[in-house]
Amino acid sequence: MDEAATREGTRRFRDRLAGTVPADHFRQGGTGLLLSSIGIGTYLGEPDDATDAGYGQALVATIALGTNVIDTAINYRAQRSERVVGMALAALIAEGELQRDEVVVCTKGGYLPFDGSYPTDPGRYFQETYVGSGLLTAADLVAGSHSLAPRYLVDQIERSRRNLRLATIDVYYLHNPETQLSAVDRDSFLTRMTGAFRVLERAVEQGKIGAYGVATWNGFRVAPDQREYLSLADLVELAERELGKSHHFRWVQLPCNLAMPEAFTLRNQRVGDHFGSLVEAADALGVTVVASASLLQGQLAGRMPDILAEAMVGLDTDAQRSIQFVRSTPGVTTALVGMRQRAHAEENLAVAQRPPASHDDYLRLFTAREG
Ligand SMILES: NC(=O)c1ccc[n+]([C@@H]2O[C@H](COP(=O)([O-])OP(=O)(O)OC[C@H]3O[C@@H](n4cnc5c(N)ncnc54)[C@H](OP(=O)(O)O)[C@@H]3O)[C@@H](O)[C@H]2O)c1
Repeated sequence: MDEAATREGTRRFRDRLAGTVPADHFRQGGTGLLLSSIGIGTYLGEPDDATDAGYGQALVATIALGTNVIDTAINYRAQRSERVVGMALAALIAEGELQRDEVVVCTKGGYLPFDGSYPTDPGRYFQETYVGSGLLTAADLVAGSHSLAPRYLVDQIERSRRNLRLATIDVYYLHNPETQLSAVDRDSFLTRMTGAFRVLERAVEQGKIGAYGVATWNGFRVAPDQREYLSLADLVELAERELGKSHHFRWVQLPCNLAMPEAFTLRNQRVGDHFGSLVEAADALGVTVVASASLLQGQLAGRMPDILAEAMVGLDTDAQRSIQFVRSTPGVTTALVGMRQRAHAEENLAVAQRPPASHDDYLRLFTAREG
């Protein structure tokens, strides 16, 4: 049996759901995988049993309704989100409801994770677990909680594989790497990114991850003169310098929603000899774009201005329309939505029944804003 998402597996997933989910819900993503236009995220919530149960049920529901992109991170809910994903997938596979090669499992490393619960003294916990054990030196740590040190990343990949119960993690993101820029200058940052990319390429070689990328918050949404700014072209160049054109830096994740449309609107990325948007740069560089926080942590699920219903037609709720906006953004492959409730999974995956909004309808939201 395949130990990772594959072209064939993700196509099988689409074909298996052909009677219930339209084919245009699936888009061609990195390395030829077919990705659902709506994915499930697992960030929010307490590290407790009730939240585990909610995510477990929502995972099963969303997969049955046509989601094959699952997003998590080792630090989410003190590793409990990764563990719930691992448990839910193992159960579905054991029951014959799913095959491993049909789902694209994505996680992140960078932030030091707790283990199952939040300790009373986080600083001491990090010191003992990561510095005391020799995995990190004090100089490797930024803001007391973030590191891209090679030895540390090797350790984190192993922990994530165990939590997820997977031989191969399909996409491994460096989590908010721009955090490092608060402590080191750009040259040192790029040196650290080179070291991290080497670890990730080695992990690809060993079959521990399928590909890698960066999952960011501010990095791609600010102007080039800002301290936290990330240039996608520079990062791809780093990967190419080390590994040539066959590198595996193929994914980026950034927030994209009605309140944060910069991936499409801000021309802050070098594309050949001009500056274009992040989605334009990603397209030119062969990088898949995944949108996070599609509902701005739930804030865009409330009552929204009428123009949203006028532009995102054929949907019943503002949460659905907000998700439709994200999955209709040119260049965005998958809109991630955090879901702990089965009812939300059903409401949100109903959007997959509709084709994405037309480009004209999508642009109406921007002209309305300007008018
Ligand atoms: N820097 C990064 O790498 C980064 C940052 C942020 C997010 N992410 C990824 O992106 C994923 C999505 O972002 P997010 O979870 O932060 O926020 P989000 O998807 O914008 O919003 C999730 C919130 O919306 C609620 N919700 C979902 N569907 C709803 C509906 N139909 N009606 C009303 N409320 C609804 C959820 O409630 P329930 O949970 O109760 O269902 C949850 O509270 C994350 O889970 C994570 O995987 C990555």
